[in-house]
Amino acid sequence: MDIQQIFKNNLKWVAEKLSIDETYFKKLSEGQSPKILYIGCSDSRVSAEELMGVAPGEVFVHRNIANMVPNNDLNSHSVISYAVNHLEVEHIVVCGHYNCGGIKAAMIQQDFGILNPWLRSIRDVYRLHQDDLQMITGEEEKYNRLVELNVQEQCINVIKTADVQKAILKRNVTIHGWVFDIHSGQLIDLKIDFHKILEKIMEIYRIH
Ligand code: CO
Repeated sequence: MDIQQIFKNNLKWVAEKLSIDETYFKKLSEGQSPKILYIGCSDSRVSAEELMGVAPGEVFVHRNIANMVPNNDLNSHSVISYAVNHLEVEHIVVCGHYNCGGIKAAMIQQDFGILNPWLRSIRDVYRLHQDDLQMITGEEEKYNRLVELNVQEQCINVIKTADVQKAILKRNVTIHGWVFDIHSGQLIDLKIDFHKILEKIMEIYRIH
């Protein structure tokens, strides 16, 4: 892609927005109050705002390889802290996607250099669910299931944080686990039963 085309596209977009509402950017500059924090994969095919049909200002977005919330990752946890404590979002979404390269890499016995510690967190998800995953015979099915289980585990990592635990109690913030099905374009709600999970894990992780 011609990088100069980006600037042409941008000017076209500015003109389009202003033709509908000439105060559009003035309003945008005044502040944000998104109700949703979206944590998704950096994959270029999983375009967060576009697939959700939301406008600028509606969703606070964090993306990294394989939509991870590693326990000691200052980046994702800073995003969560800011979204929960300052923006006071009502929903936190972890959205994975089928055909995720990060998940695939974690299923391969290979040295990926600097990526190793990041992928190790995904390998840990595999180990936690090793018995269930090994029951699945098809490689594709196993791959898809690990995508889903990873979303579930990253949701749990979100819930482990003190900020989120307090926000659940105070404002009933809800956590959602979704998967984007790249084959159909549809968003799937994994309908993870957080109350059940919470009961089980809070015995260990309760910190509020
Ligand atoms: Co991905």
